[in-house]
Amino acid sequence: MLVLGIESSCDETGIALYDSQAGLLSHALHSQVAMHADYGGVVPELASRDHIRRTVPLLREALARAGRQLNDVDAIAYTRGPGLAGALLVGCAFAEALAVALARPTIPVHHLEGHLLSPLLSSDPPAFPFVALLVSGGHTQLMRVTGVGEYEVLGETVDDAAGEAFDKSAKLLGLPYPGGAFLSQLAEQGAPGVYQLPRPMLHSGDLNFSFSGLKTAVLTLVREQGEPLDEAFKADAALAFQEAIVEVLVKKSLKALKQTGLKQLVVAGGVGANRQLRATLDDEARRKRFRVFYPELEFCTDNGAMIALAGCLRLQSGTPAKQAGDFAVQPRWPLMDMAASGTK
Ligand code: KG4
Ligand code: ZN
Repeated sequence: MLVLGIESSCDETGIALYDSQAGLLSHALHSQVAMHADYGGVVPELASRDHIRRTVPLLREALARAGRQLNDVDAIAYTRGPGLAGALLVGCAFAEALAVALARPTIPVHHLEGHLLSPLLSSDPPAFPFVALLVSGGHTQLMRVTGVGEYEVLGETVDDAAGEAFDKSAKLLGLPYPGGAFLSQLAEQGAPGVYQLPRPMLHSGDLNFSFSGLKTAVLTLVREQGEPLDEAFKADAALAFQEAIVEVLVKKSLKALKQTGLKQLVVAGGVGANRQLRATLDDEARRKRFRVFYPELEFCTDNGAMIALAGCLRLQSGTPAKQAGDFAVQPRWPLMDMAASGTK
């Protein structure tokens, strides 16, 4: 079974072909980061228009790389939500129209399920069950994943997402958008211990997170320092921020492993690309004898491959494909709703 995957929930257009036997055949991606950088954040209308421009060329590229024709596609998976309504509608309308033309079914996919399952694209994938730490620009959750569609939220952020905290703090330090990767690069030049930032909810006794106070702490540091910010201050503050957020993410992940008795941790979403987070988790995994899995770096941030994979696994696990032609998207869509009801 050959599944075409289409991702367009935010500022990346991703198209991929996933074969149930052979695995990922190809994927093509266009990031709009440079286009939005001038505005300091994603401009939804520009995002939608760019998805329209990119979808057909990327589809051609993915087909050519896989050596396949459109007619070889058996089902079309696309991100139905959550995300920007206009951006989602581009992928949805394209997928549904193509499916009508080809007389194939569609599989609407939850974006976070794509992230959750993305480590299964790697050459050394985890087996179910596992604990997943989902850390993206819009979400921060710890989950118990028992199988495809079987997700239990163990804890989540009560305010900002981890990626959002990275991006907002980076902005306060004068770094370009999206700041997560820039901030973590800068942190590598920082001196440890110059600034101490709070570890919010570290001892809350549950598996929830809160990051908005951490961002405010960065704001206070920046105000105390005064403009213009020098490079050494920015690097030291970036490191202090990163150390605080990484410590909270790691300690809560360890607690989730302990609470569930599971021995495998999967880290998914854009913040999963963070080197300090990876190094600290790898270190803990060696000491505490659990295994930690990451998606390949290229599949940490948004991409079509994870959507094609999630669609294919959904079909294989018995979720019925949908008849093409319905154009609904779900910009707000709690993962739990989808896990409970399926993607019918
Ligand atoms: O998963 P993703 O592509 O988008 C969402 O679905 O939200 O994640 C994007 C987020 C952004 O907030 C970005 O700043 C962050 O991931 N990010 C990082 C790094 N690379 C991307 N955060 C920290 N360190 C990184 N190396
Ligand atoms: Zn994402």
